Amino acid sequence: MNEVVLEAVGLTKAYGDVQAVKGISFRVKRCEIFGLLGPNGAGKTTTISMLTGLIEPDSGEIHLLGSRFTTHSRRLKARIGFVPQELALYPTLSGWENLSFFGRIYGLKGSLLRERIEAVLKMVGLSERAGDAVETYSGGMKRRLNIAAGLIHEPELLFLDEPTVGVDPQSRNAILESVKELKEHGVTIIYTTHYMEEAQRLCDRVAIVDEGRIIALDTPAALIEREGIGMIRVRIGEGDFAPFAERIAALPGVKRVYRQDGWNIVEAANARETFVGIVETAVRLNVPVEAVEILEPNLETVFLKLTGKALRD
Ligand SMILES: Nc1ncnc2c1ncn2[C@@H]1O[C@H](COP(=O)(O)OP(=O)(O)O)[C@@H](O)[C@H]1O
Ligand SMILES: [Mg+2]
Repeated sequence: MNEVVLEAVGLTKAYGDVQAVKGISFRVKRCEIFGLLGPNGAGKTTTISMLTGLIEPDSGEIHLLGSRFTTHSRRLKARIGFVPQELALYPTLSGWENLSFFGRIYGLKGSLLRERIEAVLKMVGLSERAGDAVETYSGGMKRRLNIAAGLIHEPELLFLDEPTVGVDPQSRNAILESVKELKEHGVTIIYTTHYMEEAQRLCDRVAIVDEGRIIALDTPAALIEREGIGMIRVRIGEGDFAPFAERIAALPGVKRVYRQDGWNIVEAANARETFVGIVETAVRLNVPVEAVEILEPNLETVFLKLTGKALRD
């Protein structure tokens, strides 16, 4: 199961003066769910657009299913599926009719087309609403239909670009479950998101992307083990922070204390234990604490530690 099905080598892409992707390289193995996790503007969509042959990289190479892949690789394109961030559906047509349209683009017809439509509708849990016009669907249902469209031709690789943005929790779960199921059926998945919970829950390996570069790449567990120490964020009101910081830095298990975006960040071996020490210290020094937050080691704290920025919107 270690066959490499996709390899990106040194991809770069600029839009005018904006260097969106600054040299991205990684390999994806067959049947993996590979995540690109990063904040808005990190370069995820640009990377996916190059990997699916929508745009030509400025430099670098892509190897897909054993061959060199470019924007002109027609045969290879037929073996991949792409679900864009923006919905691409016909609102006045039914779900079924939309899928029929996408199926025909890939040369499907007759009973095979019907079978494929039924299969993908089932996969995304929309069989019952197939006859209704897409404009009557909820946001989450539209997203699921969008995914079904990307699957109609049974691709070996599926690229999903932020498939859960703006969907209700029920649809979000349905989407995550169908992605897992696809993996079970042998599909390799490249999944972009800025939600660390999703990456953690879903992905076999995750590349953390920031400002056009991969800054870390591994299994979620290994990333958290290596970089994800516990953190506590404290916000205090007016006053001199230095004496408070000094006392906190001297608490057992505290590794580092620093200021960031108006928060005082405390990195500690055991965030929960240190939390108590921080609160006690604040009371003793009469420091006006406005908020204290424990951040358990997870991909969010990995990102915070590596970039000094929050991943969330
Ligand atoms: N068509 C475009 N023209 C100009 N700048 C763009 C275009 N698409 C993306 N960008 C810029 O490139 C950077 C990366 O964008 P994008 O790949 O969409 O990131 P992400 O998908 O991670 O949010 C951002 O600074 C974005 O503003
Ligand atoms: Mg994007």
